[in-house]
Amino acid sequence: MRFQDKIVWITGASSGIGEALAYRFASEGAKLIISSRREQELQRVKEKISGECLIICLDLTDSNSVDNAVNTAIEHYGKVDILVNNAGISQRAFAIDTQEIVDRKIMEVNYFGTINLTKKLLPYMINNGGGQIAVITSLVGKFGFPLRSAYAASKHALHGFFETLQLELKPHHIYTTIICPGRIKTNVSLHALNGDGSVYGKMDAGQEKGMKVEDCAQKIVNAIYQKHREIYIGKADTLMIYLKRYLPSLFHFIASRIKPL
Ligand SMILES: NC(=O)c1ccc[n+]([C@@H]2O[C@H](COP(=O)([O-])OP(=O)(O)OC[C@H]3O[C@@H](n4cnc5c(N)ncnc54)[C@H](OP(=O)(O)O)[C@@H]3O)[C@@H](O)[C@H]2O)c1
Repeated sequence: MRFQDKIVWITGASSGIGEALAYRFASEGAKLIISSRREQELQRVKEKISGECLIICLDLTDSNSVDNAVNTAIEHYGKVDILVNNAGISQRAFAIDTQEIVDRKIMEVNYFGTINLTKKLLPYMINNGGGQIAVITSLVGKFGFPLRSAYAASKHALHGFFETLQLELKPHHIYTTIICPGRIKTNVSLHALNGDGSVYGKMDAGQEKGMKVEDCAQKIVNAIYQKHREIYIGKADTLMIYLKRYLPSLFHFIASRIKPL
């Protein structure tokens, strides 16, 4: 019971990694806030949780919705100990085929929505004497990858923002964990956007072979507990981080040959 009575707010909790995180944190004694756009799916998740769990519907692209969500969370629990910024959308289109509106939509959800929620909650965490913030970026927050230009850009941007927070918030006792998963078996590719903004709607073969979502959630919860600054989660795909860092030419050779779907 490492998170007994801690207030943990998880975005994107209606499916995939966020849903698995909700079950994991609940099993460790946390009191939850679960958020996303689809109330019915959040209700389905809540029904599987025996402890306290508050649903707050939230669209990260709508600033009023974010304001209301923060107010509701604080009115209900008085504080948030841990914010897990998990919600996000992916992309399945070449950069040249991706319309500007799609580039902007992916940045709105993954980057601007995430930093907006974080910044609105931060004053409450500081007043409360501290807290923790986790953000789920991606291995492609560390390197580019075909069919993911806007997605990789949005995740790289999160690294710039949250690495800065790590430095700025130390005096306020706020710890930030940046989590970079590789391929995890969720519906992320089903929800990804094509270049024209339509939904891709397919389970990619690469996704299908990804790490089990429950194993990923366990590693994330451990990293948050241990207050790690940055972790990489996945199978052999995590090696790409080290190839890029130490053998960039080999990285480039391999990355341009890996199947992106
Ligand atoms: N699966 C992977 O291989 C993988 C790898 C690296 C990183 N990630 C990252 O992990 C996070 C979770 O992804 P997942 O794999 O669990 O995918 P997922 O099953 O598609 O979950 C995405 C979640 O984000 C929520 N969401 C999307 N747009 C939103 C918006 N405008 N406002 C609020 N919530 C929104 C969705 O809920 P609603 O539709 O109900 O709003 C859903 O709960 C994402 O940030 C993703 O980029 C995933």
